[in-house]
Amino acid sequence: MDIKRVAVVGGGTMGNGIVTVFAINGYDVTLVETQQEFLERAIKNITSSLERMVKKETISEEVKSAALKNISTRIGVENVDPNTDLVVEAVYEDKGVKTSIFNKLDGLLKAESILASNTSSISITELAPKNRADKFIGMHFMNPVPVMKLVELIRGYSTSDDTYNAIKETTLKLNKVPVEVQDYPGFIANRILMPMINEAIYALMEGVATKEDIDSVMKLGMAHPMGPLTLADFIGLDVCLAIMTVIFDGYNDSKYRPCPLLKKMVAAGKLGRKSGEGFYRYE
Ligand code: CAA
Repeated sequence: MDIKRVAVVGGGTMGNGIVTVFAINGYDVTLVETQQEFLERAIKNITSSLERMVKKETISEEVKSAALKNISTRIGVENVDPNTDLVVEAVYEDKGVKTSIFNKLDGLLKAESILASNTSSISITELAPKNRADKFIGMHFMNPVPVMKLVELIRGYSTSDDTYNAIKETTLKLNKVPVEVQDYPGFIANRILMPMINEAIYALMEGVATKEDIDSVMKLGMAHPMGPLTLADFIGLDVCLAIMTVIFDGYNDSKYRPCPLLKKMVAAGKLGRKSGEGFYRYE
């Protein structure tokens, strides 16, 4: 299937990034939110992301203007155009909310349309609407989406080869690198990343080193662009805890137990950048 018309549900950080990469690469993309106010904020953030890319000379001023023209907006999933070829869901990590969005979309879209979720850890097999499970797939982008090259393509139990191939081709057209992953807890990215972050938090809790030194070890010793505690703040400690919990529950293996310090910080509302404080403080 040739994917041309795309909709993205959710105007948060990930949704905005996904809209941006589709728009830059010439797709007609509709951003869907629940309120006009959220759409306005999303378009403002998308515009600053595009401006940052022009400043960094990764795109030209012309590409930026064309990208903004490729974006339209819509309030409510029930108002998505039934002729949309691909809908990518990027709302917060709540299984009930995601399922309800997919069931609404399943009822209104043409039969050939593909549904994708950007979930970071919820099972693709469990999220798939019953009647469209063959046309359902995980499309897991990395933050910040315009910069990171990887997209994990997660095959649910019933995802068809046609669906996988169509989404793989689309991912390549976005100038991203697709990686095929089976539907197991944490997929690949988070199954490896989150235990590393969790272990860094254990090392901090046990007083093995300061937060700065733990980050320096991984930045300077392993050439990671960000230390694990800085990265945890960037991702959001609540998101890290939710993903760690899915992996822990999914494998029922104590090696994935979330660190008590991570749990305590989430309970205290110290969520990282988005709350102004996590392991570090932010302006
Ligand atoms: N659009 C939006 N935000 C952008 C952007 C763009 N085009 N380019 C950069 N950013 C953001 C960063 O979030 C950060 O925000 P603030 O300016 O508001 O503080 C800022 O831009 C940093 O950008 P700089 O230009 O100063 O820095 P940089 O370009 O040298 O590198 C980085 C920034 C790409 C984020 C780099 O530090 C890096 O690669 N870090 C690791 C990122 C990573 O590991 N991502 C994966 C997270 S895990 C995930 O996403 C999966 C999951 O399910 C949890």
